[in-house]
Parts: sequence; structure tokens; C-alpha cells
Amino acid sequence: MALKLDSLLITLLTLTTLIIHSAQCSDIIPETLTNWWKPIKHLKDPKVEEIGKLFVTTYNALKNKSLEYESVIQGETQVVVAGVKYRLTTSAKEEGVSRNFVVIYFQHPVTRTGKFTYLRHLPN
Ligand SMILES: *[C@@H]1O[C@H](CO)[C@@H](O)[C@H](O)[C@H]1NC(C)=O
Repeated sequence: MALKLDSLLITLLTLTTLIIHSAQCSDIIPETLTNWWKPIKHLKDPKVEEIGKLFVTTYNALKNKSLEYESVIQGETQVVVAGVKYRLTTSAKEEGVSRNFVVIYFQHPVTRTGKFTYLRHLPN
């Protein structure tokens, strides 16, 4: 009897572990996926460069500056409920000196319109 109970317990434990494990693999991941920054592999993708350039023109217009776009040197995307967020480290020249800016751009999936929601200068 004791032996039977033990093996029942082990079976239960195993089952519980399996359930927790599969819950982690199927139920929990889709939710965390929406909060997951995924690296952009092709930083030269026109879609990505377009946002980097748009940042420079937007920044220049807002701050009366004359940054010159250089490149996007790092980027991640995040799928959110209403669209896609791009987090890009964009290099641009300010008065001949390269500077890096981290920006977050939120893009609506259908209209393809978007806006910058975050900007940070990286120290030189
Ligand atoms: C913008 O910057 C230029 C050059 O630095 C300056 O001559 C001009 O007065 C500025 N314009 C405004 C609206 O601040």
C-alpha cells in the first residue's frame, strides 16, 4: 500500500511537472512574446533605415539642428497589441562628430504611420 502511494505520488509529481512545463512552453510564452524585444538581423533593411532617417529629419526640425544620418547600428523590434515598436540605435553626425541616439518608434501596422516615443543621446 505504501509503495503504491509512493508511486502514485511520483506519478502525480511527474504529471504536475509536465503540466507546469507545457504551460511554460505554450501558455506563458505567447504572453511574454508581446513584451519581447527581438533583435533586427538586417539593419540595412530599407524599412529600418527609413526610420533612422526619419528620426534625423524629425530631430532636426524639432531642435533646429543639422544632424546628418549615418546608419542604424543596432535595433530591436517588439510586437505590441496595436503595432510594432522599433528600438534603434542610430548614428548621426552633428557638426562633423558622430553621435549615437537610441530612439523608439511606434508604427501602426496598417497605416504604416508612426511616431517617436523615446529619445536618448548616448554619451560619446
Ligand atoms: C536655427 O539654427 C540656426 C543655426 O544654428 C540659427 O541661425 C537660427 O536662428 C535657428 N533658428 C531658430 C528658429 O532657432
